[in-house]
Amino acid sequence: MSVTHDFSGAEVLVVGASRGGIGAAIARAFRAAGAEVTITGVEESPVAADRDRFRYVQLDVCDGAAIEAYAARTQHLDILVNCAAITARGEEMAPDFFAKVVDVNLHGTFRTAAAFHTALKAGEGAIINVASMYAVFGSPKNPAYGASKAAVAQLTRSLAIAWAEDGIRVNAVAPGFIVTEQSARSRTDPDHVAAVNKRTPLGRWGAPEDIAGPVLFLASDAAKFITGTCLAIDGGYSIA
Ligand SMILES: NC(=O)c1ccc[n+]([C@@H]2O[C@H](COP(=O)([O-])OP(=O)(O)OC[C@H]3O[C@@H](n4cnc5c(N)ncnc54)[C@H](O)[C@@H]3O)[C@@H](O)[C@H]2O)c1
Repeated sequence: MSVTHDFSGAEVLVVGASRGGIGAAIARAFRAAGAEVTITGVEESPVAADRDRFRYVQLDVCDGAAIEAYAARTQHLDILVNCAAITARGEEMAPDFFAKVVDVNLHGTFRTAAAFHTALKAGEGAIINVASMYAVFGSPKNPAYGASKAAVAQLTRSLAIAWAEDGIRVNAVAPGFIVTEQSARSRTDPDHVAAVNKRTPLGRWGAPEDIAGPVLFLASDAAKFITGTCLAIDGGYSIA
C-alpha cells in the first residue's frame, strides 16, 4: 500500500492489534507513515512478524484498573484506534457469552477512550473506533456482535460531540467481509465465500490493508472537519 500521510512523531496506540489482522495492518501503516506505534492485545505477545516492530502491551480491555494504570503513564497521545473485539458465530444467544461480547467490544472501547481522554486532549488527538457493517445489518448468528458494533457506532457519535470542545475528533470505520483470523471460521464454507464475492460490487473479500488507508485518512489533517462519522469499507456490499 502506498502511504501518502505523514505521521512523523505522532504517538499512536492501536488496541487489539496482536493477531496480525486489521489492527496489525493499521499499526503497520501508521509506522510506515512515521508514527511511534504501540499495540496491545489480550495475548502475551503479538504475532511473530510484529514482535520487533512495535512496543507491545498485554492489556485486557475488560480490566478497567489495568487500562487506567496504563493510561496514567501516558501524558500525550495523538491517535487511539480501538480494534479489540470478539465474536463466535452461533454462540451468542447464550446470555453470559452475549454479555462478554458486549463487554469486550463496546465497554472495552469506552474504557480505553475514557482512560486516554486526558492524553488525547493534550495532543488534540483523534479516535478511530472499528465498528462493522453488522452495526447496520441484523446478524442472527452473531446477535451480540451486531448489537455491540451498532453501539460502537452510536458511542462514536456521542463522544464526537462531547469531546469536540477538547479538540478531539472521534470517528469509526465499518469494515465488511475481511480475510482475517476472526473471519476464518465463516470462510470454511465455500458457498458463503462465493456468495460474498458475488454480492460485493467490487467482487472480492477485503484485506486488512484495505482498512488501514481509510483509518489513516480519518486520523489525518485531511479529515480535520470530519467527526462522528462511521465510514463503510466493504467494497459496496452494504449498498448492493
Ligand atoms: N475480520 C472481519 O471480517 C471484520 C469485519 C468487520 C469488522 N471487524 C472488526 O475489526 C477489528 C479487528 O478484527 P480482526 O479480524 O483483525 O480480529 P482479530 O481476531 O484478528 O483481532 C482481535 C484483537 O482483539 C484483541 N482482543 C480480543 N479480546 C480482547 C480483550 N478481552 N482485551 C483486549 N484485547 C482483546 C485480540 O488480542 C486481537 O488483538 C475488530 O473490531 C473486528 O470486530 C472485522
